[in-house]
Amino acid sequence: MRVLVACEYSGVVRDAFIARGHDAMSCDLLPTDVPGPHYQGDVTDILEDGWDLMIAHPPCTYLSNSGVSWLHRDLSRWDKLKDGASFFKRLLDAPIPLKAIENPIMHKYAKELIGNIKQTQVIHPWMFGHPESKATCLWLTGLMPLRETHNVYHEMMQLSKAKRQRLHWLPPGPDRWKERSRTFTGIAEAMAIQWG
Ligand SMILES: C[S@@+](CC[C@H](N)C(=O)[O-])C[C@H]1O[C@@H](n2cnc3c(N)ncnc32)[C@H](O)[C@@H]1O
Repeated sequence: MRVLVACEYSGVVRDAFIARGHDAMSCDLLPTDVPGPHYQGDVTDILEDGWDLMIAHPPCTYLSNSGVSWLHRDLSRWDKLKDGASFFKRLLDAPIPLKAIENPIMHKYAKELIGNIKQTQVIHPWMFGHPESKATCLWLTGLMPLRETHNVYHEMMQLSKAKRQRLHWLPPGPDRWKERSRTFTGIAEAMAIQWG
């Protein structure tokens, strides 16, 4: 299949599909962290290039429920929320038969702007072999919900809260956002096996 992995600098999902014989390319405004087929630029330039499947990880800074209180403290965020929601909707509406758009739990203002289109499922890294908790929503078109591959919930619950929410407690730094947003390999492999 021709697979577009939109908004991916890490190459994690792209390389999981390539390893299974697919013609996959990542796209991000940033360069790819790992060498491989990559379009550095705006994904809206290439949405109509005849893809079979798109997996997209659009920015969540202004859409996610965990940041909703900032909207009331910094009024400049409302315009950024509108831009973020319109970009998300553009990906949802892309003319590609199979699609998965990924984002954390959204707040009600973002949901209203994207047209109250409910996510298809909510997954966590612990369903795919990583002892960490991070609710991740998937909006799916033409795809079956992702099935868990290696449930380590009980192992995770033996860990301290700080360890199982490691990403939440990462120290500040220029690469903190990258570390927090990189797709888990177990989830990428499940996508490539089940959707490829
Ligand atoms: C939340 S991060 C997703 C990271 C991804 N999970 C990974 O493993 O690489 C969102 C990414 O979207 C990219 N992005 C934002 N606007 C974009 C656009 N118009 N076209 C392509 N990428 C874009 C950002 O540069 C950022 O790397």
